[in-house]
Amino acid sequence: MSVLKIKEISKIFAGPVRAVDNFSLDVADGELVCLLGPSGSGKSTLLRMVGGFETPTSGVMTIDGEDITHVPPEKRPTGMVFQSHALWTHMNVFKNLAFGLKLRKVAPDEIKRRVDGVLDLVGLNGYGTRHVAQLSGGQQQRVALARSLVLEPKILLLDEPFASLDQHLRERLREEVRDIQQRLKITTLFVTHGQDEALSMADRIVVMRDGKTEQIDRPDIVYREPQTPFVAGFIGTMNLIEGTVSNGIFSKAGYSTPLPVSDGPAILAVRPEALDLSVVTENSQGKVHRVTDYGSHGLVDLELLDSTRIKAMVSHPDLFRAGQGVTLAPRAIAAYRGNAVIHRA
Ligand SMILES: Nc1ncnc2c1ncn2[C@@H]1O[C@H](COP(=O)(O)OP(=O)(O)OP(=O)(O)O)[C@@H](O)[C@H]1O
Ligand SMILES: [Mg+2]
Repeated sequence: MSVLKIKEISKIFAGPVRAVDNFSLDVADGELVCLLGPSGSGKSTLLRMVGGFETPTSGVMTIDGEDITHVPPEKRPTGMVFQSHALWTHMNVFKNLAFGLKLRKVAPDEIKRRVDGVLDLVGLNGYGTRHVAQLSGGQQQRVALARSLVLEPKILLLDEPFASLDQHLRERLREEVRDIQQRLKITTLFVTHGQDEALSMADRIVVMRDGKTEQIDRPDIVYREPQTPFVAGFIGTMNLIEGTVSNGIFSKAGYSTPLPVSDGPAILAVRPEALDLSVVTENSQGKVHRVTDYGSHGLVDLELLDSTRIKAMVSHPDLFRAGQGVTLAPRAIAAYRGNAVIHRA
């Protein structure tokens, strides 16, 4: 039963670099929250501050009501798996896991029991005597995870733990980690810049930009109802078309569609899977640039008359060829003005 509260935390590095900017977040008991954002948006810095490896310039953090802002890492009830996992390669798996427990003066038979338990949990039963260098990348990541879990932290902190692994292994491990996290009901903060990872694992996603929160929501909401053009462009594939609205009509280079908002600039957001195309011989709104057949579906890259690039997902890619004229019929759109949503349909 552990709740993490981050209140108005900032970190300013010499430079000055405002890596984390007045950031607040509550992580509920047993919840897994993903911090998602582009490189340099402050994800690792924030996580390192929660783990105690970086000191905040201002702000307060509590775990179960207790102020941990200035508690050293080894005294915090947190366990952290770093972006590049740092296992001790000169020790075997058992010793890697036992190390932290020894520091905490846990009795040897208790150490054995806990290490065996956690190896079982991460699917590495019997690997205790193996040297870390004799393990695959995926196995090493599991040892890194086990090493934080064995200390039974109240809060688990994971910084892109699968970044160095191939796609298949990454998918498998994220399912395993999600299973373990739910079984242990451990409150978790997970950093990634992989949106698939965030969408598939998180109870809630925090989209970060320049050290600030751009949106906090459930994954399906972040995907379906991005609150800003930045989130719209960052999560999944999104066509963002900048144009103007006049008398309820949005237009951009030969393409127009009704948009019931006041006159002015607007950014129209349409997902490739929500855009229907029809091949036409005249009055086209765009031109097919390239067609890619992915087997399960196809992707048509097209250009509006001013060369704006747009993507549309199609179920029959063989119906389209480069150079053909098409018209566009979006089934779901959102529109933004500045940073605000002005329309959704
Ligand atoms: N020790 C440091 N000294 C100075 N600047 C730093 C330091 N650590 C990070 N920064 C800067 O703070 C900003 C945020 O860095 P951070 O590592 O938190 O980003 P990130 O979101 O984790 O990125 P990535 O996805 O690439 O890991 C960056 O501009 C980075 O250059
Ligand atoms: Mg990072």
